[in-house]
Amino acid sequence: MIRFELNGSMVEVDIEPDTPLLWVLRDTLGYTGTKFGCGLGLCGACTVHMNGNAIRSCSMPVTAIADQKITTIEGIGSESRLHPVQEAWIEESVPQCGYCQSGQIMSATALLAMNPMPSDEDIKSFMSGNICRCGTYPKIRKAISLAAE
Ligand code: FES
Repeated sequence: MIRFELNGSMVEVDIEPDTPLLWVLRDTLGYTGTKFGCGLGLCGACTVHMNGNAIRSCSMPVTAIADQKITTIEGIGSESRLHPVQEAWIEESVPQCGYCQSGQIMSATALLAMNPMPSDEDIKSFMSGNICRCGTYPKIRKAISLAAE
């Protein structure tokens, strides 16, 4: 049995210890906001937070997150109160197909928690591991700057 905190509540899963966190979130616990892209830690679609830091859930065995705090896209805001990054995303109409966007937002929120006033270079560098097939990068960078204001 592996226990961890998910979006503020303790959860327990009885699962093979090397199962990637991504599949525990999506298939076992039903948190499907976190997406599968490459499965190799290369695209960022599966980004969640562990203790506030952005991690790739596709390449993180669930055993490695025992007793840690995990936050997914479902946990950063609520229907009545969006996270400022989510509000900026809406303001800038960032998504096109939308598939990578929860991972983009999770990386952006981790960046702003660590560096509340990032430079354009900071944003470009931190976000470089999150791939967007639609090429929404300029809007992503603009939304992060807006959220930082
Ligand atoms: Fe995890 Fe691509 S699905 S980095």
